[in-house]
Amino acid sequence: MSKVLSAVAWPYANGPRHIGHVAGFGVPSDVFSRYMRMAGHDVLMVSGTDEHGTPILVAADEQGVSPKELADKNNRVIVEDLAGLGLSYDLFTRTTTPNHYAVAQEMFTTVHANGYMVEQTTSGAISPSTGRTLPDRYIEGTCPICGYAGARGDQCDNCGNQLDATELVNPHSKINGETPVFVETQHFFLDLPALAEALGEWLDEREASGTWRPNVIKFSQNILKDIRPRAMTRDIDWGIPIPLDGWRDQPKRLYVWFDAVIGYLSASIEWARRTGKPEAWRDWWNDTDALSYYFMGKDNITFHSQIWPAELLAYDGLGDKGGKPGPYGVLQLPTEVVSSEFLTMEGKQFSSSRGVVIYVRDILERYQPDALRYFISAAGPENQDSDFTWAEFVKRTNGELVAGWGNLVNRTATMIHRSFGQIPAAAELNADDKALLATVNEGFATVGALIERHRQKQAIGEIMRVVAEVNKYVTDQAPFKLKADDERERLGTILHVLAQAVSDCTTMLSPFLPHSCNQVHLAMGGQGVIAPMPRIDEVDDLDGGDGYPIITGDYTATPRWESRPITAGTPIPKPFPIFTKLDPSVVDEELERLKPETDDE
Ligand code: MF3
Ligand code: ZN
Repeated sequence: MSKVLSAVAWPYANGPRHIGHVAGFGVPSDVFSRYMRMAGHDVLMVSGTDEHGTPILVAADEQGVSPKELADKNNRVIVEDLAGLGLSYDLFTRTTTPNHYAVAQEMFTTVHANGYMVEQTTSGAISPSTGRTLPDRYIEGTCPICGYAGARGDQCDNCGNQLDATELVNPHSKINGETPVFVETQHFFLDLPALAEALGEWLDEREASGTWRPNVIKFSQNILKDIRPRAMTRDIDWGIPIPLDGWRDQPKRLYVWFDAVIGYLSASIEWARRTGKPEAWRDWWNDTDALSYYFMGKDNITFHSQIWPAELLAYDGLGDKGGKPGPYGVLQLPTEVVSSEFLTMEGKQFSSSRGVVIYVRDILERYQPDALRYFISAAGPENQDSDFTWAEFVKRTNGELVAGWGNLVNRTATMIHRSFGQIPAAAELNADDKALLATVNEGFATVGALIERHRQKQAIGEIMRVVAEVNKYVTDQAPFKLKADDERERLGTILHVLAQAVSDCTTMLSPFLPHSCNQVHLAMGGQGVIAPMPRIDEVDDLDGGDGYPIITGDYTATPRWESRPITAGTPIPKPFPIFTKLDPSVVDEELERLKPETDDE
């Protein structure tokens, strides 16, 4: 049993999240975390909303509200959406808590004291018409590396490279299109070159572990070749102040990559404080045996495989300049950076402003959460870009979820309810019965190993293959034809075997489809839940700030990842519908709905 940190990317609170976001960081991290709990590990799954920086300011300006008001509103929407999807966070919090401020500032103080945070003069963009600074996303232009026209002042989302606004070809303000002027300004830079050797050693060691996705490790090693200091502060007045005399009161704040990314640590600390064991987080951060997995979309790889590990090394005092760890002790670097590729939508990039978007909220209002979870798991952007189309969504839901798995559950429950009212006892098993149960049972090892290696697509494909085997068993054994009195014993045996097979498939599917597996569990006579669900708590701030909603949960009832023998005599209730078949007209209706709105992301 290990301590396992599931560190899930922090969504920006600049608007509601769309299904591309939850396909990247949400569902994969939840499947993994649920599975790891079932495999007996002690999982701590943390995240929160990222509420500082230019994305929030841009959206607040557009809507004519303060950044805090905007963040409050979207934090709540995102909390509800992620909880609605069943994402089993131990703590989903936010970056505007005093706890997070204190942790980010402590990181800064120690990294600075260790010599890895160096002051430099740099060039910052200003709006010639208003005199306001234009950081990061306030500026767009053409990427000097790949030529993509929508690159931003801090990063190109097309090729993933980090940029400075000064490098953009044709830079222009996102607010009014004008060309910015560049003026000199002072900032703190993370001395990445002084950490490059330690980073390289860590990456080599990670590569040798053989578990990282090859594209992620290659990309990370590549960007190491062109490593330079990166500014960790911005000319902006919304965010965490720089905790140094002479800087605290300036309109400069910590940059997202010295803010939200530290949330993994601050949320772990907040979680520990909330459980009444304030030092408990150390088991996941200081213990060299602890494992940590970071989940995100591919635009975030650089920050999790270079910037964040560099910050940790700098905090630990493990770069060229030495140093010693601060009060948090030696913090462990990521075990694995698990990145997914991009989800497109009807062949196009998601864009709220162009109306190419499906919000999580809309899906949850109109469809079952597990239909989306199934689509993402089976057809999502795990290792290559993938496309969401409504036609494919309807096809997968009806053809696989409803006709494959739903039908198996329904016919099994119906036959048992009608013929026996309870799970019948089995007489002697024949070779077919034994073969089926063996096939199902082998699934635990195969599927478990796949999930552990982040091959979730293959994993759910394997379970659905097993489900198809069970359906074939029903067809071959034809229990519905066994009506005579002297066939009753055989009927009972078949239905017993089926009940066992359904129970095992439910266990294996529960990390993927927690809502419906809880229903199936009840339909098959079970008690309680087999996939504990997150809840939303309205909490007080720990340090006197405003209260806020968190996602948390008690997941201790999670069963083990193994076959649990069913009990003959368990009453099976009258079957109730679990999966909703979608009318094909959904496709046209949904395509009709796609119309332009505001707010770009
Ligand atoms: N909110 C940022 C983004 O979506 C950062 C998320 S990852 C974290 O790109 F490390 F900062 F949490
Ligand atoms: Zn580019």
